[in-house]
Amino acid sequence: MSVRCVIGVQWGDEGKGKIVDLLAADSDMVVRYQGGGNAGHTVVVGKEKFVLHLIPSGILHGRACVVGNGVVLDPEQLFAEIGDLEAKGVRVRGRLFISDRANVVFPYHKALDRAGELKRGITKIGTTGRGIGPCYGDKYARTGIRVVDLYDNGLFESRLKTNVEEKNEQLRALGAEGLDFGKTLREFRGWAKRLKPFVSETLGLVNDAITSGKRVLFEAAQGALLSVDHGTYPYVTSSNSDATGISSGAGVPPGCVDAVIGVAKAYTTRVGSGPFTSELDNALGEKLRQIGGEYGSTTGRPRRCGWFDLVGCRHAIRTSGVTELAITKLDVLDGLDTIRICKGYRVGGKVLRDFPASLSALEKAKPVYRDVRGWMKPTTAARRMADLPPEARAYLRLLEKELGPRVSMVSVGPERKQTVVTGGRL
Ligand code: IMP
Ligand code: MG
Repeated sequence: MSVRCVIGVQWGDEGKGKIVDLLAADSDMVVRYQGGGNAGHTVVVGKEKFVLHLIPSGILHGRACVVGNGVVLDPEQLFAEIGDLEAKGVRVRGRLFISDRANVVFPYHKALDRAGELKRGITKIGTTGRGIGPCYGDKYARTGIRVVDLYDNGLFESRLKTNVEEKNEQLRALGAEGLDFGKTLREFRGWAKRLKPFVSETLGLVNDAITSGKRVLFEAAQGALLSVDHGTYPYVTSSNSDATGISSGAGVPPGCVDAVIGVAKAYTTRVGSGPFTSELDNALGEKLRQIGGEYGSTTGRPRRCGWFDLVGCRHAIRTSGVTELAITKLDVLDGLDTIRICKGYRVGGKVLRDFPASLSALEKAKPVYRDVRGWMKPTTAARRMADLPPEARAYLRLLEKELGPRVSMVSVGPERKQTVVTGGRL
């Protein structure tokens, strides 16, 4: 399998960073294809903890890392991240390739993101405030500015001027302050200069790697249920955060991916607003939050916690053609005597097994649970399936049976070594 992809099959924060880091060890190239600074991928290497937002997690293995055209690029965030990595001794230069076609996040995108959320009040999406939605909005309205445009002096200046004027009107209408055009222009001319050594025609780079048999790993951000097309719209992010985004977001042919690894936490979390049928809005949810350290790695917000949701996961597996599963944070459930799995959504008089499109159906849905016995033993030292308590193995087997794809990896702690590679169907 030379072309693989790692996606989240829940609402993000499934532990993709750790799985990508593990798979990067036997990959030649790691490619991000959507999202932007809203992502937060945590990787623990020995005593050092890295939180990556824009740069693929493969950088820690010294792999060629590509930021594809489907990503929205915030230079300020990028250079903060490069600085952080370099300070910890990770070489970035010569290994990071940024698509010349990626759209650039400007300060007005961030300002509009925040002002828009304030205006929405209780109906807010709960965005990360990183300007993601407004930047993708401009991309599709065809008013965006791409990396390559930064080097086209006249074009850049005139497009930026038009945009700043238009956005300032919108910002003022929302009661927020406008931006200074001259200052923004100077600032971004500075970023363009610093960005130059990283800018590349990544489309050729990635396609050539694939056709020459190199091992390429695509790294998704967020989770499939936050996908703009297939998620809980409008409570989603603004990109195709599932495997469907690969082709457009990296400029590679559909069908080039041999394996899709769907990462799921052994329970479910969600950060921000939106329906969450198996949510535990109680002391048990708080317990999971404390044990699992469920606080956003980008915004620090407490994550909402709940039981595993087969309905949502199946939907994600289907739309992305998931071929194998990695189940993470199994150890967080170590102290529970009973564990529940949401196997259906009760809406009106019906039990749905398929994930509904309707927001009101999702908001009304009541979970139908199956209870399974917990294992009440620590699992953090497990390295093989045989090391896991029988109830934990039964839980994983049940997930595999209900979801379809085999469980190929189980994570029992944040460190690289705290991983069970299962070696086949359970
Ligand atoms: P945005 O992507 O900042 O526009 O936020 C839209 C929704 O996606 C909000 O509910 C965010 O909390 C959520 N979101 C965005 N990025 C992530 C992520 O990396 N992990 C989890 N949730 C995310
Ligand atoms: Mg995250």
